[in-house]
Amino acid sequence: MANSFGNLFRITTWGESHGGGVGVVVDGCSPRLALTEADIQPDLDRRRPGQSKIVTPRKEADRVEILSGTFEGKTLGTPISMWVRNEDQRPEAYTEMATKFRPSHADYTYQAKFGIRSWQGGGRTSARETIGRVAAGAIAKKLLRERYGVEVLAYVQQVQKISAEIDPDKVKFADIESNIVRCPDSAVAEKMIRLIEKMRRTGDTVGGIVTGVARGVPAGWGEPVFDRLEADLAKAMLSLPASKAFEIGSGFSSILLTGTQHNDAFRAKGGKVYTTTNRSGGIQGGISNGQTIYFRTAFKPVATVMVEQDTVDVDLKNTTIKSRGRHDPCVLPRAVPMVEAMTALVLIDHALRQKAQCE
Ligand SMILES: Cc1cc2nc3c(=O)[nH]c(=O)nc-3n(C[C@H](O)[C@H](O)[C@H](O)COP(=O)(O)O)c2cc1C
Repeated sequence: MANSFGNLFRITTWGESHGGGVGVVVDGCSPRLALTEADIQPDLDRRRPGQSKIVTPRKEADRVEILSGTFEGKTLGTPISMWVRNEDQRPEAYTEMATKFRPSHADYTYQAKFGIRSWQGGGRTSARETIGRVAAGAIAKKLLRERYGVEVLAYVQQVQKISAEIDPDKVKFADIESNIVRCPDSAVAEKMIRLIEKMRRTGDTVGGIVTGVARGVPAGWGEPVFDRLEADLAKAMLSLPASKAFEIGSGFSSILLTGTQHNDAFRAKGGKVYTTTNRSGGIQGGISNGQTIYFRTAFKPVATVMVEQDTVDVDLKNTTIKSRGRHDPCVLPRAVPMVEAMTALVLIDHALRQKAQCE
């Protein structure tokens, strides 16, 4: 099913930007995990529009409600259903999109596929769909943290050409959250914020890179051959709206080294195996090797710009479009909790699969 993700820990998201609301059903969550809305809301607040001057000004509180799957503050092992009501709906801000396709958005392809689309706010192609993923991801993160000792983080590493050097082994959540762009290097963050503000003023957009990190993953998670851990992470990241590329560990730059230079040498200490470098990004043969997992996801400069551009309309006539309304000049700060959520969903699924087959 195209709206579902995962095997043993399986989520199904639903909802459009301008429908009644958006939500998720989580099936396969372990029982007896302490869980209330207070565990979910902080991540939704980090994803929320209107959270700072560099994101879309759409005003949504995004208050989550758990409808099923818990009793007396604990998970039951039954499906957990969660939702958020859509509040700040302004279909009139999108009327041009009813008849014209925004260049590089999903308007044309949805029309070509379904012959119908909710053009208000982008319908299901809106990043509001990711509310369900972030809510489910908050549960996955809690399970990973409390039952497996795994920490999942993400941060903005690059905005266009402005880049930060961050050590994935040492990066701290507090440093990531210390500024509105979510880059743990505050001096670089200032430059990023200035660039995004400039984009907002000129009605343009800008992209960049989010790095995802998982620390404390034991050796052994991941399935040969089609469900390699990095293949599932790649699919998870490339399923996020506006993502354009994925690379793990040394990624594309690995081609600059020889095998001798690139290999991660094994050592053992106190009965534990480790590697002296981590160009593999914590995964070998599709299976975690016990080192920190780190990878990068590139997000494009999003399509909706306040600049006149060539396009076609639903009658396939050449025309132009200049978007109005409320949009993100840069999606990176809000993409951080989405990357965390998708990482946690992949890892918890593989943790459960490892338990089912090998323990
Ligand atoms: C956090 C976040 C916010 C987004 N906000 C916008 C936006 O304001 N305007 C826009 O055109 N696209 C936005 N997008 C991207 C669109 O949802 C996406 O480009 C669209 O679904 C088409 O998919 P594609 O770009 O992956 O091909 C956002 C994406 C993310 C991750």
